[in-house]
Amino acid sequence: MSRFPAYRPRRMRRRDALRRLVRETHVVADQLVQPLFVVPGTNVENPVPSMPGIAQLSVDRTAEECRRLVDAGVSSVLLFGVPEEKDAHGSGAVAADGIIPRALAAIRRATPDMLLITDVCLCEYTDHGHCGVLRDGEVDNDPTLDVLAAEALAHARAGADIVAPSDMMDGRVGAIRRALDAAGFTHLPILSYAAKFASGFYGPFRDAAGSTPAFGDRRGYQMDPANVEEALREVALDVEEGADMVMVKPALPYLDVIRRVKERFGYPVAAYQVSGEYAMIKAAAANGWIDEARAVDETLTAIRRAGADVVITYFAKDVARGLRR
Ligand code: PBG
Repeated sequence: MSRFPAYRPRRMRRRDALRRLVRETHVVADQLVQPLFVVPGTNVENPVPSMPGIAQLSVDRTAEECRRLVDAGVSSVLLFGVPEEKDAHGSGAVAADGIIPRALAAIRRATPDMLLITDVCLCEYTDHGHCGVLRDGEVDNDPTLDVLAAEALAHARAGADIVAPSDMMDGRVGAIRRALDAAGFTHLPILSYAAKFASGFYGPFRDAAGSTPAFGDRRGYQMDPANVEEALREVALDVEEGADMVMVKPALPYLDVIRRVKERFGYPVAAYQVSGEYAMIKAAAANGWIDEARAVDETLTAIRRAGADVVITYFAKDVARGLRR
């Protein structure tokens, strides 16, 4: 039974102030996280061709970029490290003077209040590009846990505010929680990449982080895009093991997963608008096929509407600047 003509939805759409008055979802700079790629050297800025506007930055340049982010209104960053050397075990990941510990110290000096989240994974540090140590050509789960825990601890000791394991090994949240607690970092939160799908949208990131697998793919540890019940089991496991915040990744193709995780667990949910999602919008906009600002705002609004509290996006600085205006 239609309530028309008593109810006319268009009445509430007639003026900009009225539309804003009844808007249900907001994108705010406080909940955006900017990912950054840190590389060795000084004064280095290597643009990533498949991610226009994004560059690999040396530690000094990363600290400068953090100043600009703070000016724009962004107060959280997610750090990825590209080490000087890679080996089979990803030793660079656990070094106390590794690329991430050095970046943490420099950013802390430049912008003391910036929230520093570190990606905990081995793929940037292994010469084979997989997210763990190998045995017979396969990623070996349990030995990898020790390395990840040591990596998280190295980040904690160097001043990380949150550690974010993205490897998708079973049991890693528990292993990291135990290592942090044993070393006195009981207060340090874990943001787990709980539902991370084996996605075709990570291509540009692997160029930026130099982490393309030398053989095979990540389907033996990342999730099948077809599965949402399994995603809920993954999240349940991470929450039991001590995750304080959970992530769904990528974002736009997985809005249903975000919604179900938010409703089921009521934990803070982060969604990662990944490199391929960024590249698609940039490429279409560069061709004049879509309006970039509108498309970005629409995607971020959709991700928030689906239930994400936090959005990790390469657009964070631009969007925050736009919100300031
Ligand atoms: C792995 C990691 C990846 C991303 C974040 N952490 C890549 C992968 O799993 O291959 C992808 C992020 C993006 O595409 O923007 N440590």
